[in-house]
Amino acid sequence: MKIIRTGIPGLDGLFAHGGYPEGNSILVVGGPGSGKSIFGMQYLYSGATEYEENGVYITFEEPPEKIKKNMKAFGWDLDALEEEEKLIIMDAVDYIVRDDIDTDTLKEGLDVDNLVANLEEAVSAMNAQRLVIDSLAVMNLYARDEFEKRRKLLKLSHHMSSKDVTSIIITEAKSSNIGISEFPLETYMFDGMITLRLDPESQLRKISVRKMRGTKHVVGSFKFSINSGGIELSA
Ligand SMILES: Nc1ncnc2c1ncn2[C@@H]1O[C@H](COP(=O)(O)OP(=O)(O)O)[C@@H](O)[C@H]1O
Ligand SMILES: [Mg+2]
Repeated sequence: MKIIRTGIPGLDGLFAHGGYPEGNSILVVGGPGSGKSIFGMQYLYSGATEYEENGVYITFEEPPEKIKKNMKAFGWDLDALEEEEKLIIMDAVDYIVRDDIDTDTLKEGLDVDNLVANLEEAVSAMNAQRLVIDSLAVMNLYARDEFEKRRKLLKLSHHMSSKDVTSIIITEAKSSNIGISEFPLETYMFDGMITLRLDPESQLRKISVRKMRGTKHVVGSFKFSINSGGIELSA
């Protein structure tokens, strides 16, 4: 079994073989400001700079320029990686807010097919091994109904898995107190689930691996910090 490194110092050590099993799709859940986007970009940045694994990032919430600017704080030069064709940041924000797209069509969910097709094309053109979707909560707004949403997600995750792409799918938690019951659908559909939260009592950031198909992992809550190098689990 091939293992994909998480890129997060301290996180690989929670998995028996030192990372995610290749081809897994992993749901990353957290409240606003919990570090989900940083977690996703750090996964791609380290893949491109340390493991020769290319990445695709699709953003539905923040425009690519804003993400690039924010990530500069960690010393990550994403423009350079794009120029070297090791990373592509796909702009779904622009796609969604553009005035020339008929909003009725979007509500009908027809364009989700296009989005998925574009995503698959980009992964193939980039020869990418890593994919991040930020975020599912927003992408789902454009699906016609629950059935449609499940079908498309399953299709996408099977496609990525068949191409040996290891995916991080970000979604928003409704509360900082994250339980599996809050995500019945998503939890069963994905191979893995990781939660990021801010503990209301201690005001400490905590990360947990709730599920990871194909590997043994440590169960528990671990302190982490966001510092000048990005996300890091505390020793
Ligand atoms: N340069 C930085 N140094 C330390 N912490 C940062 C830095 N930039 C952002 N943060 C922290 O990360 C949070 C945003 O992370 P982000 O991944 O965008 O959150 P999410 O995607 O979960 O909403 C901020 O609220 C802040 O607490
Ligand atoms: Mg975010």
